[in-house]
Amino acid sequence: MTVLNKDENVIWHQHQVTKQTRSELKKQKPVVLWFTGLSGAGKSTVAGALESQLASLGYHTYLLDGDNVRHGLCSDLGFSSQDRRENIRRIGELAKLMADAGLIVLSAFISPHRIERQMVRDLLPDGEFIEVFVNAPLEVCEKRDPKGLYKKARAGEIPNFTGIDSEYQAPQDPEIDLPAGDKSLDELVGICLHQLRDRAIIE
Ligand code: ADX
Repeated sequence: MTVLNKDENVIWHQHQVTKQTRSELKKQKPVVLWFTGLSGAGKSTVAGALESQLASLGYHTYLLDGDNVRHGLCSDLGFSSQDRRENIRRIGELAKLMADAGLIVLSAFISPHRIERQMVRDLLPDGEFIEVFVNAPLEVCEKRDPKGLYKKARAGEIPNFTGIDSEYQAPQDPEIDLPAGDKSLDELVGICLHQLRDRAIIE
């Protein structure tokens, strides 16, 4: 691979159509709603249901989903700490571009490390990164085990499985903390919509 001297030879080009223009055309404020939590906590389910609500209210959205992105953009990555970091770095940059396009971006990744979630937060202007902690205890996620992965991990068939032999660092001060172990899907989506209205992200 050729390594360019990025500082000298790659120059940022400021195009005429700006983030502001694109957002105004869509009549919305761009934002990244970053869902984090254990496998089986309900990140994709809540993000998907919230996206449906936002779309029905006329907002322009895009949902980035861990399992889907790992079939394409990140199909070369596994689950070592290094690969997870690269996974989140790519998604963070992609989410930033999508916010630059004026979209409301929803992302559903375990993103187990605080430092990487902070890295994505730092890519975006203040207030444009909303951390949504899909807060379901490990016991609940393991009992649900929608993909049968906890069973496999306990049997030693999946190394580095989050919550089993790989650490999940819960957010310390998330913008939205969802009690995903004991509330219904409708209630969880309701909490998100309420928070987005409170923060004047949606009307
Ligand atoms: S992250 O840690 O890099 O953010 P990501 O959200 O992309 O993870 O992918 C998680 C999904 O991959 C899980 O929902 C699960 O279906 C699958 N998976 C496969 N192996 C593992 C593993 N070792 N740990 C966690 N999830 C895994």
